[in-house]
Amino acid sequence: MPRWIFGAIAILAALSLIPFVLIARARGTKSASPRIHIIQDMDDQPKFRAQQPNSLFADGRATRPPVPGTVAYGKLAEDDHYYRGKVGTDWATTLPVQVTEPMMKRGQERFGIYCAPCHGLAGAGDGVVAMRADRLQEGTWVPPASFHTDVNRARSVGYLFNVITNGVRKMPAYGSQIPEADRWAIVSYVRALQRSQNTPVNEVPPEIQASLR
Ligand code: HEC
Repeated sequence: MPRWIFGAIAILAALSLIPFVLIARARGTKSASPRIHIIQDMDDQPKFRAQQPNSLFADGRATRPPVPGTVAYGKLAEDDHYYRGKVGTDWATTLPVQVTEPMMKRGQERFGIYCAPCHGLAGAGDGVVAMRADRLQEGTWVPPASFHTDVNRARSVGYLFNVITNGVRKMPAYGSQIPEADRWAIVSYVRALQRSQNTPVNEVPPEIQASLR
């Protein structure tokens, strides 16, 4: 075998390392031009991304706002009674859902989480937050209402539902935290609380009546 063959093999071996050196360099340096991309497969196309400007529209935004009146899938809240506590223009006087024991239990639990801190476990307006605020005596505190006043006993269920949804005067709104079904459960539970504090003796079961008198 001629000796130059060994020389040629050595040179080729050295040259074959060059691609690896180039790859290593490409990976380690920055470039403003896009990388070599042989098969395009529609990977790169002219398009606008979210938040980019677009002079085609008067407001200059590429992201278009939803068409007015757009309703998200599954969010068509058409039933005024269920979603807003209204029947026609009046507050609903009936519940739009069937009262069941699990629902009352749920209402009790949700009431304990969302209402009792201010209104108290029995709804007398003596929750721990209210007690603490009383103690601080800062003078700016509006006490939470008691549910056991004639005014609040006379409130319709639709009105109570709306108080939870949108708040009232100094009370904050809880509509974004409490789903409709839970709001109705809480309303039913508030009704139960009101009844628990104000029931004529003749409506108490007879066997218990005796022990009351
Ligand atoms: C952060 C304390 C706070 C929480 C929590 C709270 N409330 Fe109130 N609520 C108030 C205050 C304060 C008022 C009285 C507002 C006023 O008179 O300005 C009030 C008033 C009310 C009233 C009387 C409305 C009226 O027209 O006079 C009802 C009914 C009521 N709340 C129900 C609820 C229910 C149900 C929950 C639970 C989902 C709840 N509240 C949670 C503070 C709270």
